[in-house]
Amino acid sequence: MRNPFKYGGIVTGPYFADRSGEIKTLKREIENLNRVFLVSPRRFGKTCLLHNLMGSLDPDGYAVAYIDLNAFPDLRSFAGAVASLTTKALETNTDKLIKLFAGFKRLRPNISIGSEGDVSASLELAVEEKEAIAALIEGFAHADALAQRKRRTLAIIIDEFSDIEKYNGGAVEKALRAEIQTHQHTSYIFSGSEMSVMLSMVQNKKRAFYKMGRIMALEPIKQETYEGFIKGWFEKGGYSISTDCVREIIDLGQGITYNVQRLCHTAWEAAIESKTIDAPLTETLQAIIVKQDAPHYEVLWQTISATQKVLLIALAQDPDTPPFSKAFLLRHKIGPASSINASLASLVKKGILVRQGPGAQYRFSDLFFPFWIREIGKL
Ligand SMILES: Nc1ncnc2c1ncn2[C@@H]1O[C@H](COP(=O)(O)OP(=O)(O)O)[C@@H](O)[C@H]1O
Ligand SMILES: [Mg+2]
Repeated sequence: MRNPFKYGGIVTGPYFADRSGEIKTLKREIENLNRVFLVSPRRFGKTCLLHNLMGSLDPDGYAVAYIDLNAFPDLRSFAGAVASLTTKALETNTDKLIKLFAGFKRLRPNISIGSEGDVSASLELAVEEKEAIAALIEGFAHADALAQRKRRTLAIIIDEFSDIEKYNGGAVEKALRAEIQTHQHTSYIFSGSEMSVMLSMVQNKKRAFYKMGRIMALEPIKQETYEGFIKGWFEKGGYSISTDCVREIIDLGQGITYNVQRLCHTAWEAAIESKTIDAPLTETLQAIIVKQDAPHYEVLWQTISATQKVLLIALAQDPDTPPFSKAFLLRHKIGPASSINASLASLVKKGILVRQGPGAQYRFSDLFFPFWIREIGKL
């Protein structure tokens, strides 16, 4: 039997652990044409949830365009994507689609015919870069108008929305707000992992998205539900595992979906013959994963400065003491608190550390990385 615990991609069908409450809420928000800001740290499962939400919408009434800002490095490509993905979501007839594409003022259709006669079309900026904002707004306006004509509700989902700042920030946000607040046929879900960016967008009076929609914080999958999912799959595969052991695995993964999936995947393989998952086996899981990821960590380690390494080693050994505290600085022989500010900021920017809570508390974004750091410290 194939390993049912998937990680690292989009998980659907029976492999997708219950998010039915969240899907129900989001469906309702779409129905009501609301705007939702979906927020959680990385790897909690936003992207997966959004894909499963899309799969659950009735195609007769709803059309969905999913746009991941990661895929669009500049405003011109984002503008092209908005116009082409929303139009494609609402029009499947190729001839009509090409006609619609030809109607854009600032975007030029790019049509190619594959070897099987299949037609694929996209849009690209036809005017100068400085008109990219206007092209973007044209795309959003066109989408809402087309949804009206088609008598369908359009859901536009923008993933990694906190990245919007990379497109010269404020001007894009302002123009977007002005446009989408007039929409009567489109619902928006903006999803993002940069908590501070997302929250400030919606809660800061000076920002364009102030009070534009509700914030929905995606929590870890409910403990009991996740336990049932995990135990169910192991039992289906003929494994024996106690509820305590399942809990232990969820705890090890700190409840973060990616981590828990990865640990379960690893446990499945480690016990493929014994079919027994017990405490001694569970204890070996992190070490197995760290060994698998060691080449990646070795490369990453090369990109880190000496001062940052000292700090990371200290944080890996001493995760519970705030790095600015006297105890921490003394114990790890790190200079004055002011000297670690820059290092911490740079490590957050690189995505290695995540700032947590209102205090100056930091955690590793990759749960298994500090384990590797502690191992090298032992050498
Ligand atoms: N409900 C779920 N059931 C099973 N696996 C999931 C679920 N949600 C997320 N995952 C796993 O966790 C990984 C991280 O989830 P992802 O949706 O990419 O998180 P985010 O978008 O919040 O960073 C995914 O690649 C997937 O393997
Ligand atoms: Mg994601």
